[in-house]
Amino acid sequence: MFEINRIDHIGLIVDEFEPVVKLFELLLGFRVGSPLVRSGYIGVDMEIPGTKGISIEILKSDKSPISKKSSLINKKAAIHHVGLHIKNLPLAINFVNELYMEALEDERSDQFVPFEAKLRSDSEGQFFHIAPGWKYDSDFYYEIFDGASLHLPNYFLDNVARGIGIKKLNAWAHVSNDDVSLSDWYERLFGLETVYYWNPSPVDYGFSVRTLKFLENEMNVEILKPLKADSYMQKFLDEFGCSVHHISFEVENIDSVSQICDQFRIEVLGLHSGVGEKGKWHECFIAPPQIRGLLIHFFSWEIQ
Ligand SMILES: [Fe+2]
Repeated sequence: MFEINRIDHIGLIVDEFEPVVKLFELLLGFRVGSPLVRSGYIGVDMEIPGTKGISIEILKSDKSPISKKSSLINKKAAIHHVGLHIKNLPLAINFVNELYMEALEDERSDQFVPFEAKLRSDSEGQFFHIAPGWKYDSDFYYEIFDGASLHLPNYFLDNVARGIGIKKLNAWAHVSNDDVSLSDWYERLFGLETVYYWNPSPVDYGFSVRTLKFLENEMNVEILKPLKADSYMQKFLDEFGCSVHHISFEVENIDSVSQICDQFRIEVLGLHSGVGEKGKWHECFIAPPQIRGLLIHFFSWEIQ
């Protein structure tokens, strides 16, 4: 498996830059970090309250001729990639190529092309892209690199005073109909561990959840699988493909989420509560119109 140093960033593609930066800053309590200029797009790193080493890159196409050809502006969903900083890129490339050959040994389809990791370069060094899943049918990807980052986000904890009261980033959740094979991919490539599986009756709920945990980073990936054709998860999959449905933040207090969202005229969805191992939990979602497709999930614990 890869030796992951840190989850470096989540890359978000937006249509309008300023409103999204303002939303992250004022509503979510993020800090504006370093500006980014890459071929075909411009952006800024936003620092996340209570979350070490990870930032959210907000990127916008610069509408140059290069960007028109790039996949960035063709994606429907907002989350474009997740950047992982690993220990040794050449070793990882060998590992991934061998693993794909081994995992796909039984593939007999003429149309199927095995994954081939290709190194690319930019101002931060070399990297490669890999889409989650054995069959490369995903609509977001992981950006794997081992160079020196130009910047690392500052770690800050003034979570109660700023915005909605975010304590930390907890997970990103993506949708797929192939959750078993996808968890196998995460386990074998990234060494993630499946820590939770919720598979309710399709009569009661429209999707199942598998939670996988990064071993040395306090972060989770969730795989959401639609359980029926008319569920909203299936509709999301039809519209946006196998891409990130939401990012999840733990907050101090769910009531202040509702109050602050009201001030920003952002509708709070799916507010409900339950009981878990740490006590009572509360959750809700927002789907800010400034960010296409992506939902933001908030949860809080009432510790007993
Ligand atoms: Fe990136």
